[in-house]
Amino acid sequence: MLDLLITNATLPDGRTGMSIAVQDGRIAEVTEGLAAPAQETIDAQGLLVAPHFVDPHFHMDATLSYGLPRVNESGTLLEGIALWGELKPLLTADALIERALAYCDWAVAKGLLAIRTHVDTSDPSLLAVDALLEVKRQVAPYIDLQLVAFPQDGVLRSQGGVENLTRALDKGVDVVGGIPHFERTMADGAASVKLLCEMAAERGKLVDMHCDESDDPLSRHIETLAFEAQRLGLQGRVTGSHCTSMHSMDNYYVSKLLPLVAQSGVAVIANPLINITLQGRHDTYPKRRGMTRVPELMAAGVNVAFGHDCVMDPWYGMGSGDMLEVAHMGLHVAQMTSQAGIRQCFEAVTTNAARVMHLEGYGIAAGCDASFVLLQARDAVEAIRLRATRLKVFRKGKLLAETPAATAGLHLPGRAQATSWMTPKA
Ligand code: FE2
Repeated sequence: MLDLLITNATLPDGRTGMSIAVQDGRIAEVTEGLAAPAQETIDAQGLLVAPHFVDPHFHMDATLSYGLPRVNESGTLLEGIALWGELKPLLTADALIERALAYCDWAVAKGLLAIRTHVDTSDPSLLAVDALLEVKRQVAPYIDLQLVAFPQDGVLRSQGGVENLTRALDKGVDVVGGIPHFERTMADGAASVKLLCEMAAERGKLVDMHCDESDDPLSRHIETLAFEAQRLGLQGRVTGSHCTSMHSMDNYYVSKLLPLVAQSGVAVIANPLINITLQGRHDTYPKRRGMTRVPELMAAGVNVAFGHDCVMDPWYGMGSGDMLEVAHMGLHVAQMTSQAGIRQCFEAVTTNAARVMHLEGYGIAAGCDASFVLLQARDAVEAIRLRATRLKVFRKGKLLAETPAATAGLHLPGRAQATSWMTPKA
C-alpha cells in the first residue's frame, strides 16, 4: 500500500494525466493513469504539480525589518547598505530569529522549501551568523536553509573582514560569499574574488558572490570570478549573484564574456524585483532596467536562476516569499514573453535554482523526495500569470501547508453564470 497517490496531475514539462506514487517520503513512480491502493489519494483534477520552489538568493538576517530604524529615502543600494549599518548595532538574536522564523512560515505557505540566505559576517560578534545557524536548525524539518558568509562591508575594505568571514565558516556556514564591487578599488575587488575562491577551494565549499551589483559597465568582477572558478577547478560550484553591470556593458565585451562564463560553469542569479527597484537610480530618462542579460546567458548555456533577495528590509518594502511573483517580474523585465521564455522563468525559480544550491533528491521523478506543490493552475505559464494559489504543499510526503482555492463571488445584473476564476475554458 502506497502512502500517497496523486492522480490526474499535469507536470511542469507538459505531461498530463500523470500519477505520482509516494512511499516513505520519496517518489516511487511517476506514470500515466496509475491506480494503486494508497493511504491517501488526491485527484489533482488536471492541475499542475511542480517540485517545490527554491529561492537561491535571500537575506534572512534583514528580512521583515522594514522601517527599522527608518525607511530608505533614496531607494538606492548604497543607502540600503548604510541603513543596514544603522540597524546592525540594534539587532538582538531573539528578534532576528523571530523575524526569520515568521518569514519561513510565509515561505512554506507559498511552497518555498529551500532558501539560500546570505548572512552578514562584518560584525565581529557574528550575532546574525549564530542566529541564522539556530534558525537553520529549527526549520530543518521543513526548509532546507543554506547559509552564505557574506562580508557586506567588503572582506578587504572592513577591518577584520577576512577573520570574521573565516570564523563564520568555522561555525558551519555553508558557502563563501563576497562583494567585490563594494571594495575600495577595482584591484581590491579582483583581489577579494581571488582570495575568497581560494578559500572555498581549500575548504571544499561552494562560492556565491554578490558580483557587480552596479550600473557601472566597467564593473567586470564576473570575468575574474569565472577565471578563478576555472583556474581552481571549481566548475559548477561558483555563482555570481546580481551581475547587474552586465546590463550596461559594451556588447562587444559581452560577446567575449558570455563564453567565458559558460565554460567556467559559473551560474548566475538575477533578482528581478530588487534589480528593477535599485538599479538605474542615478539615471534620469531613459532609465535602465538594470537586470543582467538573462535570455542571452541562458542561450549561452549558463545556469540562470532567479532570487527574491529581499522582503521588507532596508532595500525593499514589498514581497511575501512568493517565487511566482519573482518569476513574473523576471519575465517582464527580461521581455521573456514567449511560451518557452515563460517556462524558462518558471525553471529559474525551481530546477535551475535547485542546481545552484546543489539540492539532492529534487524533482518530480522516481527516487526524488516527495516534496512538491499542487497549484491552482493548469500549467507553468498559468501559474506565473495568476501567481497561483498553492493548494497543497508537501515535503517528503508530508502535508505542510494548505490554502483554499481562490475564487470570486460575483453578483452581476443579468449574468446568472459569471466567470468564477480567471482561467479561460479549456
Ligand atoms: Fe543580495
